[in-house]
Formats: sequence, C-alpha cells, structure tokens
Amino acid sequence: MPLEAAPTDGLPADVRQALRAKPALRPAGCDGAAALAALGETQRRLRTRLASAEARAFDQLIHLGAAPASGLAMVPAAALGLTDPAFAAAEPADRAAPPTGLGSLVLIAKLTRHCNLRCTYCTDWREGPGNRMTAATQALMVRRVAEDRSVATARFIWHGGEPSLLGVRRMLGFLWLQARLRRPGQDFTNSIQTNAAALPDPVVALWRLFDFKVSVSLDGPRAIHDRQRRTARGSASFDAVIDGIARLREAGVFAGVLIVVTPEVAACPVEKLVGELVDAGIHAAGFLPVRPDAGTGEGPYLPPAAFADFLIRLFDLLRTRPDLRFDVREIDALHAAWQRQATGFCELNGPCLGGYFGIEPDGTVRHCDKFLGSADHALGNLAERSFADIRASAEMTALKQREAERWLRLRTCRWYGHCKGWCPHESHIAARRGAAGRCCGLAPVFDHFETLAGAERQRA
Ligand SMILES: C[S@@+](CC[C@H](N)C(=O)[O-])C[C@H]1O[C@@H](n2cnc3c(N)ncnc32)[C@H](O)[C@@H]1O
Ligand code: SF4
Ligand code: SF4
Repeated sequence: MPLEAAPTDGLPADVRQALRAKPALRPAGCDGAAALAALGETQRRLRTRLASAEARAFDQLIHLGAAPASGLAMVPAAALGLTDPAFAAAEPADRAAPPTGLGSLVLIAKLTRHCNLRCTYCTDWREGPGNRMTAATQALMVRRVAEDRSVATARFIWHGGEPSLLGVRRMLGFLWLQARLRRPGQDFTNSIQTNAAALPDPVVALWRLFDFKVSVSLDGPRAIHDRQRRTARGSASFDAVIDGIARLREAGVFAGVLIVVTPEVAACPVEKLVGELVDAGIHAAGFLPVRPDAGTGEGPYLPPAAFADFLIRLFDLLRTRPDLRFDVREIDALHAAWQRQATGFCELNGPCLGGYFGIEPDGTVRHCDKFLGSADHALGNLAERSFADIRASAEMTALKQREAERWLRLRTCRWYGHCKGWCPHESHIAARRGAAGRCCGLAPVFDHFETLAGAERQRA
C-alpha cells in the first residue's frame, strides 16, 4: 500500500526529506513532542527484547544518551564485556591537543568480509579466517584518525561483507574504541550499509541507541531482487529484507535503500520499479550502476550511457508523478549540480583523492572501496603508514597525476563545470574496457534538464 500523504507542506525541505525517510516516526500533526514520545516508546520496546547480558550494557548506555563519542569512554571496557587485550591497550595519544585543521575523512571500513548472501555481482564477500577486522586493527584505524591533527570530522561507514554479522559485542567494542581514542574536538559519526536479511533485535537496538543512519540494499522488485540477492544457502531474501526494513523503520534508523542497477534492473519499466518500492513503503533510494572488477574491468557492467538513460527515465517519471513522493539520491544531486548548487554527494563534488579510504580487514588502505581488485589504488597498510604518509605517498601522487590527466580530457565537455568529472571509478572502468571518451557519461542528463527548462520558459 502507498503511504498516506503527510501534512508536511509548510516545513523546510530538509525536514520534509528527513520525515519522508522515516515514515514510522512521522507524527500525525508534525509536532515535536509526539515524535519524541514515539522515540521513547520504540526504545522501551527494544529494551524488552534484549537478552539479559545485552540489556545490562543497553541500560548503561541509555544512561549516557545519544552522545557515545563522549559518554561511552566513561564505561570501562571490561564492564561492557570487552575482554580482547586491544581494549586494555587502547590509550589515547596526545589527548589534550585539539585538531589544527578542518579536514574531513570518510572511511569505508570493511569490518568483516563474511556474508550471509551471495549476490550475483558481488566480489566483496569472503569465507574463512582472517576476513574479520580484529579489535587491534579497529583500534589502529581509529588511532590513525585521532593522531591526524588535520582531521576535524571522520565518518565511519560500516561495510563488508555483512556488518550486521559482527553482533552487538563487537559493534560496541568499535564504538568504545572511537570514544576512547578520539581526539577532543574531533567529531566522529557512524553509518551502516546492510543487506538487512537477518538482523538480530539487539543489533537494531544498538543502532537506535547510537543514532546510526542505516541504509539497506534492496534490488527493486521482488522477482529481480530474489534473482540477484540470494542467501548463501541459495534461497530468496526479499521477504526477510522487507521485514528488516520494517524493524529498522520502527526503530527510527532507516535511511533508505541502495539499488544495484544491473542491465536487468535498467530494463525494468521505471513505473514498475518505483511502484513496487512505494508499495513496500520505500520513498528514498540511491542507485549504483553495477561495477565490474576494478583490476581487470571484467564482470557485469552497466555503461554510463545506459545509466544516464535510466536516470532520465526515472526523472521523467518522478516529475510527472509527484504523488509517488519518491526521492532518488542521484537525481537530487544531479539536479542541484545542474543549478550549480552544492550536492553533498562525493561523485559530483570534484576531487575525492585523499578524503575517502576503503579499509580492508587486515588494515590495507585503498582509495575508496570501489577500487577493490585494483593494485594501482592500494595505498599501503595502516600498520606502516599514517593517513598523512598515505596522502604524501608516491602511489597517491601517481593517482593524482592520473586524475589531472582525466580532468584535462573531460574539461572540453560543456557540462564539466557541473559534473566535475563524475566518479573517477566510472572513467577507470571505461578506460579498462577501451571506451574512455571526452564526456564522463552524464551529459545526456544535463542536456535533458536544459531541454525541459527551455520548454518551460517557452510556456511561461
Ligand atoms: C559490498 S556491500 C556491503 C554491505 C552489505 N553486505 C550490503 O549488501 O548492503 C555494499 C553495497 O555494494 C553493492 N555492491 C556489491 N557489489 C557491487 C557491484 N559489483 N556493483 C555495484 N554495487 C555493488 C551492494 O549491493 C551494496 O549495496
Ligand atoms: S550482501 Fe553485500 S557483501 Fe554480501 S554478497 Fe551481497 S552485496 Fe556482497
Ligand atoms: S571514487 Fe567515486 S564513489 Fe569513491 S569517493 Fe570518489 S567519487 Fe565517491
């Protein structure tokens, strides 16, 4: 069933967006007290579902409110059942000194590569030992951020494999390390990307407690999702994911879905795609063109022209069907970029080298996690290099040189000032497949915006 219309018209756009992404928290009359009461009730309900050991930790933390970065460090690690020697050894370095810069880091942390699904296009999952980040490597990762005085804000994106498989204790451990090792004045935030196929209640409660933004992978209509995203045992996962989304929404942490656009998704009529999502109560999505292996360029692929065509069809549906109330991250960002406004989206923000790192379970650092498999994008290990070393490394210099050459090639496109070259990974794959051109691939979308705006002007 589509969601009922919400009385949000008089609210600012960002508030409307937030309420839309969290329909279960949308209060009937949009008054803040009702929203807070809904939150308190959710928290109480979650508490009753916890096993007794988790409940004790939950009580301690609830006491601290939603400010784990300052509060959690006051709870001794042992009291939270964190017995790994890495916790006892975690001593903050140089605590008194605040950051000297306003830099920001985004760390896509592969906390485990174990996974309960076997998605057709995915090469991220692994089996067996050595594929989960130890507490010692987590501590090293956090310490490397804390020791970098140029960093004022760090965002940890919990990735994998499937991060929900870590369980409450290990998650709490990672949060505790952040609280313990954070430099005063540094701001840390956490978000998570999950398949939501088997979310234990204590894990959802923990995410609620620490105010995570939880994004769920769902590949559109049931039939396609169940073909693309099967469990390790070979069964369908759609129903379990929809149930997971309902529980995340109830907890108020659901941020939206990520959909991998394979050629099959791109061939699905957009009315059907969006209609099925809206019927499932989903009103916000990001779309990832399926990417081949970054090393060889081989594997399932949606070329930029096909992705641009898909986005144009989506845009035309949404502008003619505002009643669907469906937000697409890429379209919102492209529309903002076309108007030369800030997009808040790395792919349209220009240079990203040095600001986004993928961290493997063994501490290997890569530029972004999209470059898994590309030896050129491996930048050493945190055990040997600080982030400052990595930024100054010969490998990083070589990547920057390659980026500069890419920009020189793309800047003849008249939309270059808007797209800023799009995501370097797209150009990297296009080059691997012998198709690097003078446009990143997004020009048709901007051309379409321009045509529509021209027609609008003529009508006015
Ligand atoms: C690697 S998964 C890790 C987190 C979690 N297991 C999940 O599926 O959400 C992160 C995201 O990458 C997407 N992904 C995996 N392989 C991909 C590929 N070859 N091309 C595009 N996206 C991919 C997944 O669908 C998911 O949205
Ligand atoms: S659930 Fe995530 S990590 Fe697991 S196979 Fe699917 S995309 Fe890969
Ligand atoms: S490589 Fe692409 S996805 Fe990764 S940080 Fe850069 S723009 Fe973003």
